[in-house]
Amino acid sequence: MDLKIALVACGALLLTVGCNKEEKASGGAVGAATGAATAAAGGGDDPAAYYKMKCAVCHGDTGGGDGPGGSALTPKPRNFTDAAWQGSAKDEDIKKSIIEGGAAVGKSAAMPGNPDLRGKPALADALVKHIRAMKK
Ligand code: HEC
Repeated sequence: MDLKIALVACGALLLTVGCNKEEKASGGAVGAATGAATAAAGGGDDPAAYYKMKCAVCHGDTGGGDGPGGSALTPKPRNFTDAAWQGSAKDEDIKKSIIEGGAAVGKSAAMPGNPDLRGKPALADALVKHIRAMKK
């Protein structure tokens, strides 16, 4: 969605003075519009933004499993900093639990699915990498 808006904005600018040139001149406005669209789309294609918007509430900003939305849950949201879990979890299962939800991999159904990621395999893969990078 943000991409579409960016393309539309870019196309409109191309018609006038050329995309790059104009973007430099009005970069602030274009950047702000793209940022708003990214937020509206639920994180856009940036795994860090997506995580912050959809996951941090339960898994915590840095992946410690200590987000406020998870404090009342049993079992607790996964602690991504846990090296033992990182070592045992398979990428494909992490990805499946993110897209289809915890129940799909035999985990708690309190872990919600994110079906919007079905059509965004690159973002799903990037999220797995983002979670991997939280290992301590
Ligand atoms: C409503 C709270 C909540 C939200 C929001 C949430 N999770 Fe979870 N998540 C959980 C809980 C609870 C578990 C633990 C499930 C279990 O251990 O049975 C979990 C487990 C996981 C697991 C581990 C599965 C495994 O193999 O142990 C991954 C990976 C994961 N979540 C990723 C994410 C990502 C990425 C997001 C954001 C797109 C997200 N979660 C959003 C609650 C949440």
